[in-house]
Amino acid sequence: MTAGFVPPVYPYERLNSLRAEAAKLPGGAIDCSVGTPCDPPPPQVVEALAASGTERGYPASIGSPAFREAAAAWVQRRFGVGVDPDTELAACIGTKEFVASLPRYLKLRLPDRDTVLYPSVSYPSYAMGATLAGCRAVPVAVDDKFRIDVDSIDGRDARRALCLWVNTPGNPAGALDDLGAAAAWGRDNGVLVASDECYAEFTWDGPPRTILEHDTEGVLAVHSLSKRSNMAGVRAGFYAGDAELVRYLRECRKHAGCMVPGPVQAAAVAAWVDQDHVDVQRARYRERLEELSGILHVTASRLAASGSDPVALHSFAAVPPELPEGGFYIWAEVPGGDAWVCVEALARVGGLIVSPGEFYCESGEAGARRARRWIRVAAVQPMHRLRQARARLEHIDLD
Ligand SMILES: Cc1ncc(COP(=O)(O)O)c(C=O)c1O
Repeated sequence: MTAGFVPPVYPYERLNSLRAEAAKLPGGAIDCSVGTPCDPPPPQVVEALAASGTERGYPASIGSPAFREAAAAWVQRRFGVGVDPDTELAACIGTKEFVASLPRYLKLRLPDRDTVLYPSVSYPSYAMGATLAGCRAVPVAVDDKFRIDVDSIDGRDARRALCLWVNTPGNPAGALDDLGAAAAWGRDNGVLVASDECYAEFTWDGPPRTILEHDTEGVLAVHSLSKRSNMAGVRAGFYAGDAELVRYLRECRKHAGCMVPGPVQAAAVAAWVDQDHVDVQRARYRERLEELSGILHVTASRLAASGSDPVALHSFAAVPPELPEGGFYIWAEVPGGDAWVCVEALARVGGLIVSPGEFYCESGEAGARRARRWIRVAAVQPMHRLRQARARLEHIDLD
């Protein structure tokens, strides 16, 4: 019927049959595939949601003064950087919609350009945003630590680029990019650098970072309360940086009807001003990351020692997966193995649902080679559930 765009199957829906199978195990499936928080938001956030009295009127698309001031104050407190809430910052409805719609607005502004640059191992919405804008999605190489290599960008792609996405700490690999180098590359090449920093609070190697530390000219930082404050179901974030770009995007987004609901804006204020709940959350993720790393290691070693391979879990590395520099994912290598086989085995035996590398790797031969070798495990289940997965995997019948 149509020769046009056919939306691909949403990646995580490809795991539905494995979820159904794992659900049959006593105790059910332990889903560590999607990075969706399982812990509660702070109680004052829920109270603010109910008590704002903002339901009747339309909310400000750019965010209320209180919303913008609270976000800017958080940037100052956590990163030591001042941004003007009146000219350099505005609200978004969580950040995925911002990521997916940015190329469309940039293309309208610079119709002679048609390219979105993004890390070759990354969150899939960067490439999808390009596709939805009718643009080219061009992956940028990452190094052996999964840090973006801006020097590898072809000059012809740079001249066509609307923006370069960077993501620190990165999903899925947890790497920390050199944001100063990315900002400098953008300025040298006249390309907006959009820095997705939604995992900033979960930086394990040193203090949290923002591209705004390297001046606001030609850059945008994108932040979210989804992970920081367990508010993925509430939908609140912001973008901040270059005043001219912020002004342009504010106007476009007003016309498009992008509005964070009033009660959500009130809840967001309550979240940004509080840091204690983030400290609690950091400790939870740290403990779970260590447990998950242990689970993968124990499973691999046990199978390696037994020489038996009833469920194709041999494909795990015999070395423990490294803990990430940031974020709450274990990005584990399956050397010589097949990521999908490993994903299936973990689901069938451990009831543990994890994602294959394919969800995060560029298409094409190089991406496919890498995709086969990696899996991502999100630390989004409570410890007692992870221990249950460990117990199941430790009791695999090897005879
Ligand atoms: C790298 C990255 N950016 C953005 C998002 C979107 O988060 P939200 O739309 O909930 O703010 C996610 C969610 O998993 C993510 O991993």
